[in-house]
Amino acid sequence: MALKTVVILGSVREGRQGIKAARFIVNALKKRKHSVTLVDPEEYELPLLKKMYKQYEKGKAPRKLEKLAKLFRSADAFVIVTAEYNHSPPPALMNLLDHFLEEYFFRPSAIVSYSAGIFGGVRAASHLRDALAEMGMSAIPSSFPISKIQNSLDEKGKPLDEKMNQRVKKFLDELEWYAKALKEAGQRGIKTFQVELEKNLPFENDFFDALWCSRTLEHVFNTEHFLKECYRILKVKGILLITADNICSFVNRIRVFFGLYPLRVSFSENERYAQHVRCFNKKSFTEIIKRTDFNIEKITSDFICFNPRSYNSPPWSASLGKIIPSLGETLIIKARKTEKY
Ligand SMILES: Cc1cc2nc3c(=O)[nH]c(=O)nc-3n(C[C@H](O)[C@H](O)[C@H](O)COP(=O)(O)O)c2cc1C
Repeated sequence: MALKTVVILGSVREGRQGIKAARFIVNALKKRKHSVTLVDPEEYELPLLKKMYKQYEKGKAPRKLEKLAKLFRSADAFVIVTAEYNHSPPPALMNLLDHFLEEYFFRPSAIVSYSAGIFGGVRAASHLRDALAEMGMSAIPSSFPISKIQNSLDEKGKPLDEKMNQRVKKFLDELEWYAKALKEAGQRGIKTFQVELEKNLPFENDFFDALWCSRTLEHVFNTEHFLKECYRILKVKGILLITADNICSFVNRIRVFFGLYPLRVSFSENERYAQHVRCFNKKSFTEIIKRTDFNIEKITSDFICFNPRSYNSPPWSASLGKIIPSLGETLIIKARKTEKY
């Protein structure tokens, strides 16, 4: 079934460029068969926030708010299109978003940012990410910055550089993954929570039997705090299964030897792994897990890649990855909590 995606644009400025970014992402979503609705704050002209939607008696909210609330409740995913005004998201965007809260819960969001300069609004995107987490529609790890928007898209939102279409494919693949996973979990009655990994996790001490943290640690600035939180919420004898991309994988050693930039790390916001803020090798990964008092029971890896240009490797490379994990692509640790928090 088609995903229902709501695109929220945040600029009402005269001569705004943002409408081009919104059209671009709406077109890209439609090509992928999403059922898309664009929310343009210019059309709604909401007053500066006096009363949130939920503060009205049932059935007494203004028609515009009622319409938006119904739309937000029905969405499977949100795409937020933000300009950068003084390193922050525009007031029209925050004003519109702040009128609602519960209406966003349990769905993912994705950030498209833009600016007139080369940074593509990444500083606004970073503030917005915090706000979206607080609103219960955490943003997916990737974002989509558009630099020099005035030269990047035509009036209809058509990119002037074909690379944008390639970039948006990966971005929307990721959004769809999260949207489908959360939708399926909701339908099966599995409780899902979107949480801010840099903050205290909203679970009691000694709560879970097991934690599976896949492709997580690379995205966390305060890794020690996050691991302490994992320790706290696990039951004694509970198991932590955690992965980390290996900066010293065999293929990266070959790449660096030949002067190529290593995979899974990034030197700029526009690169594939820009969302990785930490990288690990076997030693640093084990050290950081041990520091949190976990008892490491097993270290392994998925496979050793022998082709610096592609991830296609022979089947036996997986067995070799288990024997020499320090050369593997993804490091995997099984650890146990031994003492009460
Ligand atoms: C109030 C204001 C503040 C701005 N601050 C920044 C900024 O901090 N960084 C930046 O790269 N561009 C900044 N710009 C330039 C915007 O990125 C550019 O004008 C963009 O087109 C704004 O989006 P809009 O046209 O959809 O309103 C600012 C523009 C305005 C109007």
